[in-house]
Amino acid sequence: MFQVFLVAFLLLQPETDARKSKIFGGETKSVEDYPYLVNIRRGGTFRCGGALISPSCVLTAAHCLEGRPDRVRDLSVHALQQCLNDAPAPEHVRWAWYAKVSPDYAPRRGLDADVAVIRLSRPFDISGKASLAKIDYNELPRHMNLTIMGWGMTEENTQDWNQCLQVAEIQKLPQGECIRRIGTPQHPVTGNMFCAIGENATDACPGDSGGPAMSDGRAIAGLVSWGYGCGRGYPGIYTRLSSPRISFWLKYFVADHCWG
Ligand SMILES: *[C@@H]1O[C@H](CO)[C@@H](O)[C@H](O)[C@H]1NC(C)=O
Ligand SMILES: *[C@@H]1O[C@H](CO)[C@@H](O)[C@H](O)[C@H]1NC(C)=O
Repeated sequence: MFQVFLVAFLLLQPETDARKSKIFGGETKSVEDYPYLVNIRRGGTFRCGGALISPSCVLTAAHCLEGRPDRVRDLSVHALQQCLNDAPAPEHVRWAWYAKVSPDYAPRRGLDADVAVIRLSRPFDISGKASLAKIDYNELPRHMNLTIMGWGMTEENTQDWNQCLQVAEIQKLPQGECIRRIGTPQHPVTGNMFCAIGENATDACPGDSGGPAMSDGRAIAGLVSWGYGCGRGYPGIYTRLSSPRISFWLKYFVADHCWG
């Protein structure tokens, strides 16, 4: 018998099927090729991925803030870290100042509108190696290739902090097919989501939450959000940044809080 668990792609959920807890089907890549990618830690412990969208702001999934968007001073953000155990250079670490989740975020409605912005207490020096990613606000085509990346864990129920960056290519599914394959009344696939899966069940997994799904033009089209297990052949669910509700909020928030 085959049991399926619905999991946010966040680490250390007790019900997580962690057997394949890393980007499933990916390969190790150099973080220098993804200079906008960060990992997010709470009290030093790895939680999630994210992306630098301005020198002072990180885009991530709302569920990465674990219901505590008002208490983020213990969150740090690490850029250009290949493996989670690598000693971070001080210039690649910043602390959170405040954060805001989408006003439409609905953790009890299938993690609808799963997006947040973290404002850092001090900007990254982007004249150095760290750099920024743009957000792709364009409506997504029915089919597209996306690149996902993250530092999910390597072994079931172990805390292996030496996971190194994994990258994989996946394909977006048309929305109707996504809804048919995995939508349920309890966990609807809404207009603030899209789903995608790669060849041979390539998928995001717990620990990859909040990381960007990059379009071919290398802009952020989605964020890793949730799935039914991972690597089991079910498509993973991503936050759709181009949805009107999300893009409206995000554009204003970023303009007001992230530049200057
Ligand atoms: C995705 O990538 C594959 C292989 O590079 C290519 O053949 C295909 O046309 C791409 N699909 C889209 C929708 O761009
Ligand atoms: C999928 O699996 C087949 C057979 O093992 C392999 O040849 C192919 O390269 C795999 N594709 C990806 C994207 O890993």
